[in-house]
Amino acid sequence: MAQTIAVGGHPAGRAATVRPDRWWVGPLLTFVGLMAFVVYTTWAAFQGDHYFHGSYLSPLYSPVLFVEPSAAGAAPADHAWFGAWPDWWPDFLPASPAFFILVFPAAFRTTCYYYRKAYYRSFFGTPPGCAVNPVGRSAYRGETFLLLFQNLHRYALYAAVVFIFILTYDALISFFRGGRLGVGVGSVVLVINAVLLAAYTFGCHSLRHLAGGRMDCFSCDGVVSPRHRVWRGISWLNARHMQFAWLSLFWVGFTDFYIRMVSMGVIPDLSTWG
Ligand code: FES
Repeated sequence: MAQTIAVGGHPAGRAATVRPDRWWVGPLLTFVGLMAFVVYTTWAAFQGDHYFHGSYLSPLYSPVLFVEPSAAGAAPADHAWFGAWPDWWPDFLPASPAFFILVFPAAFRTTCYYYRKAYYRSFFGTPPGCAVNPVGRSAYRGETFLLLFQNLHRYALYAAVVFIFILTYDALISFFRGGRLGVGVGSVVLVINAVLLAAYTFGCHSLRHLAGGRMDCFSCDGVVSPRHRVWRGISWLNARHMQFAWLSLFWVGFTDFYIRMVSMGVIPDLSTWG
């Protein structure tokens, strides 16, 4: 069928393109993957229970700021940074420690340069792919007006780095239970979770800019500075940022799922503690 060719050689019409490949597969998979994660984490956050087992703490609930110890599978009271569940908490919301936590990783991922490309394409179709017309009617205006909040990414990064230390600590103390050193499948799951999240976080574009973005030359004084090594390390991770974004996203959800299943007694946790 003949297509109307607009000025500049692009076909007119919503989502119109002359691309012959299946360009829509990527945005579709992105949509399914992100939706699955959002639905699962929202559900898990509203449970408020089964986020702790032995020495395992779900990353969706860490750190525990307040605890409702009567909830099944809740963290012990002494795990909470600020103690018992606050009285001012509204009754219509479950007493879930995740509500105090998830805003930080959500802000970090939502404003991430990679995820912006991913969800602008797959959720909003602005445009859905390279050389494909936007799905909507409005003209491209860039990240203006409300989308200016995307500029806060660097500040979300600072919080995310703090979380890497907290989750690494969680992974390390998962090897101690009742004062005994040991290892369980959950410990390995938590270590992988911390490593993948660190690989994602330390490959951040904003961090790469902080490390070397304003420098014109790393070795003009004749020596390769330690800063250059840091920048190169970040650059290595940055080149794989999309891969680590997806791996860490999947694994953080899986880690919560694993601890939840073990806490509920659905699956056993193989460990040296017996
Ligand atoms: Fe993706 Fe910063 S750009 S985490």
